[in-house]
Amino acid sequence: MCGIVGYIGEQQAAPILLDGLSKLEYRGYDSAGIAVYNGTDIEMVKSMGRLKVLDELTHGGSTLPGTAGIGHTRWATHGSPSDINAHPHFNRDGSIVVVHNGIIENYLKLRKKLENKGYEFVSETDTEVIAHLLDYYYKGDPLEAIVKIMHRMEGSYALGIMFQEHPKQVYAVRKDSPLIVGKSQVGNFIASDVPAVLKYTRSVYFIENEEIVRMTNDSVEFFNVDEEVLEKTPTTIEWDISAAEKGGYEFFMLKEMYEQPKAVTDTLSPRLKDGDIVIEELGMTDEEIRAIKKIYIIACGSAYHTGVTAKYVFEGLARIPVEVDLASEFRYRNPIFEPNTLAVIVSQSGETADSLAALREAKSHGIKVLGIVNVVGSSIAREADNVMYTWAGPEIAVATTKAYSTQLIAHYLLAMKFAKVRGEISEEVFQEMIEDLKRLPAQIELLLANKERIQRFANRYLATEHVFFIGRGIDYAISMEGSLKLKEISYIHSEAYAAGELKHGTISLIEEGTLVSAVLTQEELYKKTLSNVQEVKTRGAFVLAVTNAGNIEIEKSADYVIYLPKTNKYFANSLAIIPLQLFSYYVSLGKGLDVDKPRNLAKSVTVE
Ligand code: F6R
Repeated sequence: MCGIVGYIGEQQAAPILLDGLSKLEYRGYDSAGIAVYNGTDIEMVKSMGRLKVLDELTHGGSTLPGTAGIGHTRWATHGSPSDINAHPHFNRDGSIVVVHNGIIENYLKLRKKLENKGYEFVSETDTEVIAHLLDYYYKGDPLEAIVKIMHRMEGSYALGIMFQEHPKQVYAVRKDSPLIVGKSQVGNFIASDVPAVLKYTRSVYFIENEEIVRMTNDSVEFFNVDEEVLEKTPTTIEWDISAAEKGGYEFFMLKEMYEQPKAVTDTLSPRLKDGDIVIEELGMTDEEIRAIKKIYIIACGSAYHTGVTAKYVFEGLARIPVEVDLASEFRYRNPIFEPNTLAVIVSQSGETADSLAALREAKSHGIKVLGIVNVVGSSIAREADNVMYTWAGPEIAVATTKAYSTQLIAHYLLAMKFAKVRGEISEEVFQEMIEDLKRLPAQIELLLANKERIQRFANRYLATEHVFFIGRGIDYAISMEGSLKLKEISYIHSEAYAAGELKHGTISLIEEGTLVSAVLTQEELYKKTLSNVQEVKTRGAFVLAVTNAGNIEIEKSADYVIYLPKTNKYFANSLAIIPLQLFSYYVSLGKGLDVDKPRNLAKSVTVE
């Protein structure tokens, strides 16, 4: 996620901006930049790489004198990481400068409009559109121009803006991206998050959607879209910096779990257009989609688990045969490559060595490769023929949660698109599924709100040694992820089993008190899995069941039940995984472990 900062006051701005940006490093970034008004015009320095590079380029900020400025750390979304794509961005004559956190969904349309009016673009970013759009509407009144662009932009944004003609002011505005204002004796600040300003002030205003901020050395004013003045009350921040970085959450993993509704929305909404699914980045004609004979989904760990779910979704909806492969196995098993096969490589980091090797293997056999990737400009994103980004933002906890959830969304969108193009799904069902997709973020939020209940349950299992996760079909795929989450952060041995397989060996391990998590979201398999629940129950297991609302008869067989809101059966994973993530988190927390950095694990596995 990008980070923005801004300062206007009595002190030199550049060192303050660099310091503020360093406090936002935890958000992840690939490039950084600052712009400062030097008394005559606005000067800018920006560069790809760590903040250290920017610090060296500006000699700790001393080469950019001035007391008003804005700064940015960029986590690439539109356009790969590069010096040119780094923020800030200027309008055509350098008299307006912008930093942006968010995604302008209609930027291509706006860019075309501005190009037709003679604007020339130097970067690939959606943010440059904002600078030119401001230029287009600016007639001497910054507030008026900001309001005008707000009416034109779709998507999310927190903006820091300076106008050379108004050197004693810094502006900011937000919609669906975070923004705070800090007020102090030595000047005023904007930032994406509180840690950036804590060194200077604890008096902070939280900016709401569609609120505009105008700061001078000694004043802060707030406006709504009608340019009416708003009264706001500052909050006094009591947390320390490290808690503030995590937004008040104890660990990044919990914060990231709570970011799932937004991550899902960000991945979904740009691709839902007028009752259709539009995946421009797919680079396939309808004819090519109809010609697909087979799909390989290749990935590691949790990303692989999304592939296991996707197999059921693609085969069930689009009737295309799918083979799911662990990347580390794929390249050495001499896979058969036939024409009209599509290889889908799924990866949060885009740097996983095995997944990258599998990508190269598929490409070397002339197979089209689509990457589902979170980190823009990563190796897999660059080397895949086409890339569909998951807009989860940076994930810091080693155990994936929000990236996993967005990967699922990417699979659903692809499978539905393919099903529609191939005539495998009626328009009515397609529309119902779109409505179900749109409901997912709110439903995830609802399940997250259940955290105390799951924490109480988890606290009873801190000393347990073995846990079994069972389910059939998609519920088996969910169980695989539930099991991995638990073992990786709690160090408790766990196994995922296709529920019907239990009696072929594993059931001998069930004894008095063994915890068994059963997932039962697929109604046509419900009775079957219910029998498996009864089988383990009679052998003494303690059963945690995750099932659809309404399946209350399960309470006769299970000891603890979590009910899920209603959704399409193919989307059940997106909901059922939430309580399982929470359960793992609270077991790890209860055992006093470092939830974010489990032993022996790395966030990005760049070796074979
Ligand atoms: C588990 C986890 C890992 C990753 C795997 C692939 O919580 O995060 O299993 O899913 O290492 O990583 P990416 O998605 O970066 O290729």
